[in-house]
Amino acid sequence: MAMTPNSKRKHDAEVEAEARREASWSSWLASYAGSTMFKPTRLLGRGLMRLGSCPLDATVGIAAAVSSPSELSPVYEGKRVMAVGGTRGIGRAIVCTLREAGAHVTVVGRSAVPFAHVTPKASPDCEAFAADLSTTVGCRKLVSEVAAAGVQPFHYLVFTVGAWLATPNPNPNPNPNPEPEPRTRTRARARTRTRSLIRPDFADPYTSEGVEKVVALDLLARHFVLEGLAAAGLLASGGRVLNVLASAQLVPFITAESIRVRVAAVQPPATMFTALMPVGVAADAWLQDAARRHPSLSFVGMFPGVLPTELASSTFPSWALPALTAAMLPVASSAEEVGLAHATVLASPNAGRRRVSYFNHLLEGRASHPLAYAPELGAWITSHLEEVAARVEEKARPKSQAGAPEAKD
Ligand SMILES: NC(=O)c1ccc[n+]([C@@H]2O[C@H](COP(=O)([O-])OP(=O)(O)OC[C@H]3O[C@@H](n4cnc5c(N)ncnc54)[C@H](OP(=O)(O)O)[C@@H]3O)[C@@H](O)[C@H]2O)c1
Repeated sequence: MAMTPNSKRKHDAEVEAEARREASWSSWLASYAGSTMFKPTRLLGRGLMRLGSCPLDATVGIAAAVSSPSELSPVYEGKRVMAVGGTRGIGRAIVCTLREAGAHVTVVGRSAVPFAHVTPKASPDCEAFAADLSTTVGCRKLVSEVAAAGVQPFHYLVFTVGAWLATPNPNPNPNPNPEPEPRTRTRARARTRTRSLIRPDFADPYTSEGVEKVVALDLLARHFVLEGLAAAGLLASGGRVLNVLASAQLVPFITAESIRVRVAAVQPPATMFTALMPVGVAADAWLQDAARRHPSLSFVGMFPGVLPTELASSTFPSWALPALTAAMLPVASSAEEVGLAHATVLASPNAGRRRVSYFNHLLEGRASHPLAYAPELGAWITSHLEEVAARVEEKARPKSQAGAPEAKD
């Protein structure tokens, strides 16, 4: 029997209410991140994280800690920052700190609304651009909108845009006439439904441009926003780019070839580990290549530590999120700590000691994975991303022009 519009509406409302209840549990738990009761476990967690990191970089050293955003005001007062992925999570934490330190921040994300992410009221002195950056087309649209808005060049560019494996599926049930749900099984059914509403994208791993979704946000979006802003003269000379992902991690069993295979993703990744870790090394290699192309900029790759955010909600069913958040708490930092650590590193003289430096959330300058320094790997990643854009442009060209020989003078 087909589900009537009324019973479908009721069912959807139940599913949403269930998801909201579980999300609010997660937010409540997340508010305990960084609490003093976790001091011993956090110390242990720091030790383990150091064991999993590449060696300290003696040239870069350790940035001096500050205790409040106002201590960073001498650096940030009057400076312009673009935060790509600043609407939620780590990006939002950084945005709040930079604003408090006196920077003018432009927020980018699909849900970006002027200043809603920092203060409850909209503010006329801050721009926000809503953009879906999972495609080259979306990245280029963002850059042209920013350029058309007539904004001044940015002194700092911060990338925190990212997703684990999925984006919420707006059409969870492709069957237009599904069987009605028996009312007695609501809770269990709601969980199953929620799982398909926010499903792992192992089943649907590619964007409309044929790029695997983690690669699309972690590499492609960063590349085309950086290149677009630079080409439009929107990055101030001497500016600094902070790339927040998973820098300086000791990732075992990878080779340049396995990173290429992962980035090209002809076969989608099979596990979380193989999906995320090689892309972190690839991003560090991409930073080295970006520094070669942009001699007037310096680059920082950062490992952000652990902050319970909505990141996992695109991969795990909503009922699992409170448990996941609880599992993170013993080693998690608070949003304030994460914001302050990133703003401190971004402004630190230590980060200027190399064209590309890598840090963790403990302000320690670290070397990156040895493969990140292989120039041919960084160059391959850049050319692979450029090939994606060329393919997309070729496809978009009217048939009459596609493949036509260039006109001679
Ligand atoms: N949280 C951690 O403990 C942790 C640890 C290590 C590494 N990381 C890495 O750090 C990065 C940020 O993590 P997070 O925890 O802050 O994640 P998050 O809370 O989910 O935030 C992700 C940000 O990216 C934006 N975004 C997602 N998809 C987008 C799209 N298609 N187009 C434009 N913007 C998009 C989101 O904004 P909209 O929803 O408004 O689009 C949001 O601002 C990720 O790459 C993650 O892998 C996080």
